[in-house]
Amino acid sequence: MRTISQRVAGFGTTIFVEINDLARAHGAVNLGQGAPDFDGPPQVLAAAVDAVNSALNQYAPGIGLPAARAAIAQHAQRFYGQILNPDTDVLVTAGATEGVFAAILGLTDPGDEVIVFEPVYDTYVPNLVMAGVSPRYVPMRGDDWSFDADELARAFNPRTRAIIVNTPHNPTGKVYSREELKTIAELCQKYDTLAITDEVYEHILYDDTVHTRLATLPGMADRTVTISTLGKTFSVTGWKIGWALGPSALVNAVNQAHQFITYAVATPLQAAAATALKLPSEFFKNLQADYQARRDVMVKALQHAGFKVFKPHGSYFVMVDWRSVAPKHVEDDIQFAQWLIREVGVACIPPSAFYRESDKYLGKYLARFAVCKKDETLRAAAEKLAKLGKY
Ligand SMILES: Cc1ncc(COP(=O)(O)O)c(C=O)c1O
Repeated sequence: MRTISQRVAGFGTTIFVEINDLARAHGAVNLGQGAPDFDGPPQVLAAAVDAVNSALNQYAPGIGLPAARAAIAQHAQRFYGQILNPDTDVLVTAGATEGVFAAILGLTDPGDEVIVFEPVYDTYVPNLVMAGVSPRYVPMRGDDWSFDADELARAFNPRTRAIIVNTPHNPTGKVYSREELKTIAELCQKYDTLAITDEVYEHILYDDTVHTRLATLPGMADRTVTISTLGKTFSVTGWKIGWALGPSALVNAVNQAHQFITYAVATPLQAAAATALKLPSEFFKNLQADYQARRDVMVKALQHAGFKVFKPHGSYFVMVDWRSVAPKHVEDDIQFAQWLIREVGVACIPPSAFYRESDKYLGKYLARFAVCKKDETLRAAAEKLAKLGKY
């Protein structure tokens, strides 16, 4: 009896599960998963409870609750000056994860190519494979995770259907500059290619870094689907409320897939999303100040422990090179993550999971730490990491 399809048989299980289990078994401070260990704003949580108690418990319209779509459109105007019709240009999805998959299914055909930057967030390539689409990798290198513009240009060809851009970037903390996005935009127009952007960390920015939305660059509004989520900005990753927005023709295509994947997503949580997205600017300013403090604590602790730290400009993460701190017998990022849990009591993520097989060596000496944690969690991690000096 065949028990698994060819389509998914090669996926295996992710290293993240193993690391989480090991962290739990050793009682390690877990800076692995990108989920806050604190709750979202009380008024957002209360809005969800109110919605449940106000009989908002049946299916929402497939494209999303009108109040949520209106708030998503308002948020896009407020922060990026985009003018969107909430009835045609916005689709509510089960997190950004479903948004990206529905965009791929709704916009590509088998045999197409889609360009991704490497390291690549771990759902994109399996999504492309399930859609029968070939990923085309463009590596980011060096201390600033820059890509080579000529290498990117060479990746474009007549089969290129789309490029996926994740900014701010997981796992590197890179925020694509306006110049880099312009390069991407020019190539998209030259090759008549779509862009799918994953901007889930749009509000997690450091050192006055500005997040540029690719869709707002000249010539890109008509060819870009922008995807984001409530989870990261409002510390409610378990709610899985995300959205895709853009020109109605593209959003309609994404919905063609979405309607037969999830149809509609959690009604009361969409109502709470409307409250969240309309919070005053102060909330977003405080969020950045809080994250800046968390990042600074972790960067200092990691530097103090002897790591080479790649200071992030955005996202929940700090990447380091661990070679200066690990004992000789540790050979790669997976062994390093296991060793750090067992010997030091701190869990991180081995970034080779974000590289294709032939490029895994690029992630071999890296480790990713999440900063989206309570002060006491970060302090406990810092104390344990301080022990690293002895190795
Ligand atoms: C780059 C990126 N995209 C998407 C997601 C998932 O978003 P959601 O929980 O809204 O599906 C994550 C979560 O870690 C992420 O880092």
